[in-house]
Amino acid sequence: MSTPMDANREHWDEATDIHARGNVYGIEDFKAGRYQLHRIEVEEVGDVAGKRLLHLQCHFGLDTLSWARRGAIVTGVDFSPKALALARRLAAESGIDARFIESNVYDAPAALNERFDIVFCSYGVLCWLPDLPRWGEIVARYLEPGGIFYIADAHPFIRVFPTDDDITDGSTSCARASRTSTTLPARAGRPPPTTPTRPPDTRRPSTSGSTAWAIS
Ligand SMILES: C[S@@+](CC[C@H](N)C(=O)[O-])C[C@H]1O[C@@H](n2cnc3c(N)ncnc32)[C@H](O)[C@@H]1O
Repeated sequence: MSTPMDANREHWDEATDIHARGNVYGIEDFKAGRYQLHRIEVEEVGDVAGKRLLHLQCHFGLDTLSWARRGAIVTGVDFSPKALALARRLAAESGIDARFIESNVYDAPAALNERFDIVFCSYGVLCWLPDLPRWGEIVARYLEPGGIFYIADAHPFIRVFPTDDDITDGSTSCARASRTSTTLPARAGRPPPTTPTRPPDTRRPSTSGSTAWAIS
């Protein structure tokens, strides 16, 4: 009989097919050389060059590969075989060195026995987990002493608010809130690191419950 965990994994296999279509999730932007991270993550995680970064629940690895583009030595963990097949394909196509491990995050220690400078995860992570304290132990188990754990997430409650397909703010066009995506928030391509940055994005995740919009 299918367990809730099986149903969740099947959902993510299905979602991968949807997210892989066109530029729904920013794949085309990524292939064009951009990185798929929000300003808040880049600013708060800081310089990752040469650091070992573990991305938990990495989906098909756009963030993982984006950190690699910024110089991190990356490992992604996810339990969706479809997502990881796409992650590996994107890594190969982009010539990015990355390791992806297929595992339920709770079973990861059986497949991965190392420590990392950074454990990272973002948007759409916590709400799928049945046991947060156990998950926290997994995070701690992977951290090098003095390493950092970084999470940016949003509560699904935010979906009760309407979204426009396209929101324009002066010269800044904002990411489209994909109606097919189960990920919060919607993604959009980020300029490559060498591109001059825009003023700080104030519409980023905060404890006050605002959503994040990636500026393209
Ligand atoms: C919303 S996505 C994460 C999106 C990611 N932040 C990104 O932007 O690409 C959630 C991911 O968590 C993974 N996931 C959910 N539960 C998991 C579990 N117990 N073990 C491993 N991966 C899990 C799913 O397969 C999915 O790829």
